[in-house]
Amino acid sequence: MSSIVITAGPVFHLRTATASLLLRVGEEGHLELDWFADRLPDTVSGPIRADVGEDRTGLRVNYGADASSSYSLGEAALAWSSLGKGDFRPPGIQVAGHPVLDFRYTGHHLQPGALAATGLPGADGESTSQTLDITLTDPVAGIECVLRWTTFPDSGVITRRTLIRNTGQLPVVLEQAASQLIDLPVADTHVLTFDGSWLDEAQPTRLAVGKSQLVNESMTGSSCSEHHPGLIVLGADTTQSQGWCYGFNLVYSGSHRTSVAHSRWGSTRVVSGINPTGFCWPLAPGEEFCTPEAVTAFSADGLNGLSQQLHRFVNDCIVPARWRRRARPVVFNSWESNYFDFTTDSLIASARVAARLGAEMLVLDDGWFGARHDDHSSLGDWQVNERKLPGGLTELHRRLAELGLELGLWLEPEAVSPDSELYRAHPDWAITAPHRSPSLGRHELLLDLTQAQVRDYLVGQVGQVLDEAQASYVKWDMNRLLSDLPSDGYQHRYQLGLYEVLGRIFGPRPEILLETCSSGGNRFDLAMLTFGPQIWASDCTDPVQRLDIQRGLSYLYPASTVSAHISASPNHQTGRSAPMAFRFAASASCVLGLELDPTELSQAEADELAAAVAWYKSRRELLQFGTYYRMEAADGTDIACCADDDGAVIFDRVVQVCPQQVRSALTVPYADERWYEVRIGQQVLQLPGAALRRGVPRTGRARSLTALIYEITAVR
Ligand code: DGJ
Repeated sequence: MSSIVITAGPVFHLRTATASLLLRVGEEGHLELDWFADRLPDTVSGPIRADVGEDRTGLRVNYGADASSSYSLGEAALAWSSLGKGDFRPPGIQVAGHPVLDFRYTGHHLQPGALAATGLPGADGESTSQTLDITLTDPVAGIECVLRWTTFPDSGVITRRTLIRNTGQLPVVLEQAASQLIDLPVADTHVLTFDGSWLDEAQPTRLAVGKSQLVNESMTGSSCSEHHPGLIVLGADTTQSQGWCYGFNLVYSGSHRTSVAHSRWGSTRVVSGINPTGFCWPLAPGEEFCTPEAVTAFSADGLNGLSQQLHRFVNDCIVPARWRRRARPVVFNSWESNYFDFTTDSLIASARVAARLGAEMLVLDDGWFGARHDDHSSLGDWQVNERKLPGGLTELHRRLAELGLELGLWLEPEAVSPDSELYRAHPDWAITAPHRSPSLGRHELLLDLTQAQVRDYLVGQVGQVLDEAQASYVKWDMNRLLSDLPSDGYQHRYQLGLYEVLGRIFGPRPEILLETCSSGGNRFDLAMLTFGPQIWASDCTDPVQRLDIQRGLSYLYPASTVSAHISASPNHQTGRSAPMAFRFAASASCVLGLELDPTELSQAEADELAAAVAWYKSRRELLQFGTYYRMEAADGTDIACCADDDGAVIFDRVVQVCPQQVRSALTVPYADERWYEVRIGQQVLQLPGAALRRGVPRTGRARSLTALIYEITAVR
């Protein structure tokens, strides 16, 4: 059945499994949003929101000079708008020299499937997707905006882009080009943003917008650990399990901005896209600009319902086709075990123990190339350091294969050290603002990916390294923010260069598992996930801190995308000691890996870890791809559940215990009328579904930094 139905008006009904988005052409030709919420009957052809005929004469600008007209753009619920004709809310497009812009409907076109955009990553993967182009034109400015919506009915997601065309005779300069503009039919909302910093990514911040407006943005040239591009608009009463909410995100890795603004007449405008600060894009006559894809979803089933839709969308429509629903390996990463100090022999000694613990791959992190012994030199010199690795990566690969391990490799291809052969040969390949000396970040500069010769060099050089090393996995790092920009609009051109390089390297090598990283989670976004299916979530591997970060990410991203390694105790970032069982339980609800020196474990720790990793591997399809629930827990505990049709695993992780605390029962909301076997360590209970829904008593006295794993299996 069609997921987009067009009726006379025209009225456009975009449908997913759970929601309807209803657009119509208003009385003056503007594109209005009639509904975006629960799924409507198939027969609806709008309008469905009653005009209560309020007297709204105060401080309004009517559309046009007709004294009898009562239509005001400032009061309409719109899906696209700009400034100059009475709408004073945040605009979606601004063009230099055009203080007035007015876009009205001139046509539409419906096509099957999702359409790829030249040079920009995007979503695809559902056979019932359809794409609707609605064209809005301003003939005075000579500009056409095509609003391109795509439905993902199974995931419950709708995406959109804006294609902006110069149809006039003169060049124009875009100063803003939003991907998303929507007047949601809700007021007095809350907004959940994901904020933080290096080592402290994705911390949920819930704010009441009330009658105000909120701007969530990054200006760092990256999607950014300080203010993540994804956010959620939700009701004041919405909880994990109940209430309405709207998720927004961008398939974009650069500077972004989303504003959420209360409107006078009870709606909320969300505008989202490339950050207009420093953005500027000339369009010659006949040229077109395409924005990044914006993602939105509605849930009436609380935040867990919304997350489950977004997880399905990422797993089925965002990550590379090769990695959709494909279990991720357990890697042993050398960074926190060795930093820059290793040889082939020392790596093999560690890898031998890691293999016994259950690791399937060694990821050789920073320091294997050039003259790199710390972070001051050699980025760009991607030739192996034979003093550390005699016989090179080929020999390391051979010796790992003897242990049954694959080889993964760290690279930071976008960066160049001033102290490197590459920089000495090509100083003009680094990003530099004219007449200024460039600023360093972590002692490095970035390569100018807007130059074709630089992109060609990287594609050739990185491809050669990966092929020679027979790498199965790449950790693509990026450890600084963009500064010293040569021109306005440069940040976006850099992103386009990056996407081209990633596509040309990994497109022909789909078997390589790409994990992206940017000083941890500084570029945790949907665009990077279209190239590599998982991301190193944070440089903080402390399990307590990590639980917060992972819980924050879980609102927008599935467990399969979040790389989470068990590290040493005491932890290298915080100094906190935590038992192995707690460290394991913190990592095991994501993509588990090892980030400690396995040769330093006691025999008892090694035995415990080996058994735990074996259990993880036996359940990893469920843990990485299961239906995910964040459970409410008022007692310093982080509880999460991954479920499928046959049962579930619940992680009950006690971070901080207060004396005399009463432990709440563990409710399992999705349990049906079957009987269930509940296994908690050695203890096994048989319980009916009703008892699970009411709550399993949590056994034993709680202790800080302990964890229980409940395995729940439906009895057939
Ligand atoms: C930053 C990453 O986030 C770390 O995991 C590690 O790869 C270092 N870079 C290496 O320099």
